[in-house]
Amino acid sequence: MFYEPHDHGLPHNPFKSLVVPRPIGWISTLSTDGVANLAPYSFFNAASERPPIVMFCAGSLPGPRVKDSRTNAEETGEFVFNMASEALTKQMNDTSGDYPPEIDEFDHAGLTKAPCRKIKAPRVGESPIAFECEYLKTVELPNDGEKTNAVVFGTVVGIHIDESIIGEDGLVDTMRFRPLARLGYWQYTVVDNVFTMTPPE
Ligand SMILES: Cc1cc2nc3c(=O)[nH]c(=O)nc-3n(C[C@H](O)[C@H](O)[C@H](O)COP(=O)(O)O)c2cc1C
Repeated sequence: MFYEPHDHGLPHNPFKSLVVPRPIGWISTLSTDGVANLAPYSFFNAASERPPIVMFCAGSLPGPRVKDSRTNAEETGEFVFNMASEALTKQMNDTSGDYPPEIDEFDHAGLTKAPCRKIKAPRVGESPIAFECEYLKTVELPNDGEKTNAVVFGTVVGIHIDESIIGEDGLVDTMRFRPLARLGYWQYTVVDNVFTMTPPE
């Protein structure tokens, strides 16, 4: 089949099931009032290695409301990427509700606020990987109607790795933390196998 966006003729829009699997950026921030915030973003990725830069895309809530993660990143100048591993599946989902800014999703999901070293926002203590990020810029995207839609970029200024996921060979062992990833609809997958392939000479 071929379709132009919004004219797919299927019971559910297939778009997000066609770019898979997507890593989940589990983004923690602090509000200017000091309330911790945590939410998953699967329009997330690394955008650059040198310097390391990551990005997440914040759509809108009902009406023109801006998502707390974006507001906090812009207003405080920092955010954290936390790895959502298979062991944290339920907690990741618990933090995705449309909660008002005064709700602390760490407490709501029973997660530990671990301190960062270079920024004030907390990271998820149970998460095996966390990037401390300094807010870089927001790029506004086209949007439908009055809704907001934007990509938020951050420069990674500190990286936490739980040493238990580093193998004897010094390589981070993906199988020791099994990243959770997003598919389409309400579907997810877990990275549960890895193979190695070297580029041609
Ligand atoms: C796995 C998963 C991935 C999500 N990815 C995104 C995303 O990329 N962009 C987005 O705007 N919302 C995404 N959401 C919805 C947000 O997590 C949700 O709107 C949340 O309430 C935003 O919280 P905040 O306002 O505290 O930032 C996702 C939800 C789930 C469960």
